[in-house]
Parts: sequence; C-alpha cells; structure tokens
Amino acid sequence: MQLIDGKAISAQIKLEIAQEVENIVAAGGKRPHLAAVLVGHDGGSESYVAHKVKACEQCGFKSSLIRFDEDITEEELIAQIERLNNDDDVDGFIVQLPLPRHIKEQRVIESIDYRKDVDGFHPINVGRLSIGLPCFVSATPAGIMELLARYNIDTRGKHCVVLGRSNIVGKPIASLMMQKTNPGNATVTVCHSATPNIKEICRTADIIIAAMGSPGFVTADMVKQGAVVIDVGTTRVPNAESKNGWKLTGDVCFDEVAPLCSYITPVPGGVGPMTIVSLMRNTLLAGKKVIFDY
Ligand code: GUN
Repeated sequence: MQLIDGKAISAQIKLEIAQEVENIVAAGGKRPHLAAVLVGHDGGSESYVAHKVKACEQCGFKSSLIRFDEDITEEELIAQIERLNNDDDVDGFIVQLPLPRHIKEQRVIESIDYRKDVDGFHPINVGRLSIGLPCFVSATPAGIMELLARYNIDTRGKHCVVLGRSNIVGKPIASLMMQKTNPGNATVTVCHSATPNIKEICRTADIIIAAMGSPGFVTADMVKQGAVVIDVGTTRVPNAESKNGWKLTGDVCFDEVAPLCSYITPVPGGVGPMTIVSLMRNTLLAGKKVIFDY
C-alpha cells in the first residue's frame, strides 16, 4: 500500500507556482491577484479563507479578503461582485460558500464573470468541463486529477466508482474521469443516496472516489484488493481528545481499508491540501489569461 501524500505534493506545486510568478514578475508581467469574498463569520469558512490567503502569500500572489456582514442583501452582494468583475487588477475571485440563507447562491455564482471564476462554479465553466473544453476546473476534482497524474496511477479502462453527486466534487470528478484524457478514460459509475446496492458496486471498483461527506462510510468489505481509494470527506466529528473539540474525518475507514489498497489518500493530508493548491493554479492561469479568448 502506498500513501498518497497530498501535503508533500501540494508543497511542491506551490514552489513551482511561486517560481513561475517570480519569472513573470521579473519579465515585467503582472503579479496574479486573487480576491476572496467572505460573508458573515462561519467558523469553517473563516478557516478555509485564511488558508487560501496564506497559500496566496506562499505562491507570491497578491490577495484581498473582502468581508461583508451576514445581513448584506443579495442585490448589494451582486453589486460588489460586479465591481470585482470590472476591476482590472483582480485576475480571479471566489465567493466563499455557504452563503446566508436569504441569498440565492446560484444567482451569486452566475453573476461572476466566468473568466474570473477561479472556483469553476459558473455554468459556463461547468458546461465547458463536461464537453472537454479549456475552463476553470473546480479545485477539489482538479486536485484529485493532479494526484493521480503525479503518482502515475493508471486510470485508462479502469472502473471508477464515485460516491456522491455534488456539483462541487461528484459530478465534475465523474466528468473528468470519463474524459478521453490521461488521467481519465475510465468507466465511471456514480453512486448516491438513492443507489440501493452501493456495497456491491464498490466491490467491483478499481478506483473509489468517496465524496459523500459521510464519515467512515467506506468499509473494508466494500473494497477490492489492490484498489485505489481517494477520500474527499472532511467532516468535523466531535472529539474530546483534540484541542479544538473536533477531528477532521474522512468518508473512508482508513485503518481497515488501507491494507487492501494499492494507493490511498489520508485525511487530513490527502485531497485537502490539493484543493487549495488547485485554486492557486487556477489563479495563476487567470493571471496569465490563457484559458479563454479575452
Ligand atoms: N465552500 C466549500 N468549498 C468551497 C470552495 O471550494 N469554494 C468556495 N467558494 N466555497 C466553498
């Protein structure tokens, strides 16, 4: 069994990005600028955004954190997004989700200029992804593809079972894994809450990508000998022994599943660090203006 070390790979990629940024700046180019919009004070969102800002520093990007109170109206928020759409200094930006209940997330996402949508959530980016055109790929699926590539994991013709059908992970990773690319070219099955025989389907998988947000869902009896297991779960499970009172817990029962696997990602330190680094990669691409005809 080989552990997939997302922490080490992400550190390496940040160095690669930082080097490229310095080359761009040395040649008289513009330092990439990522803006992050944070509404309210959700604990998880605060922590994610703080990590993103820190990663920007490590990559040599300029970053701006733009905070709004919980009670900002949808119209006001969209007006602020328009401002970022039109700000030539901002290459890309994200609106951290979830948003307060009175704001329609989809309306907000669709108000972002798709050419600055480094989260890859805008329908234009999602649509382009599904037909294999250049686009911003959402960060977690992009990070998983990068891990498969860097570990030279053979996906062609393999049976890949995706657990979960979220817009952010399940659907885009299924699209990417079935694309005629390397990695990719897999036969993909997507399982979700209405799938009756998940265990049986998982047992036929060469690659399992678990992204349902259900701690410990994947157990040893669901995993074929030699399978590749990618754990996307990041649920905060209450834990009296940890300093902050919770433990980040994946969708896979790591201790019992790991001995069966050819490769497996740990939680934390697997997919998580790759997600942030993929956002950095998207920001670099946004700065270079290489994806779309601008
Ligand atoms: N909330 C949870 N994950 C994400 C993400 O990747 N991007 C944004 N904007 N919000 C999130």
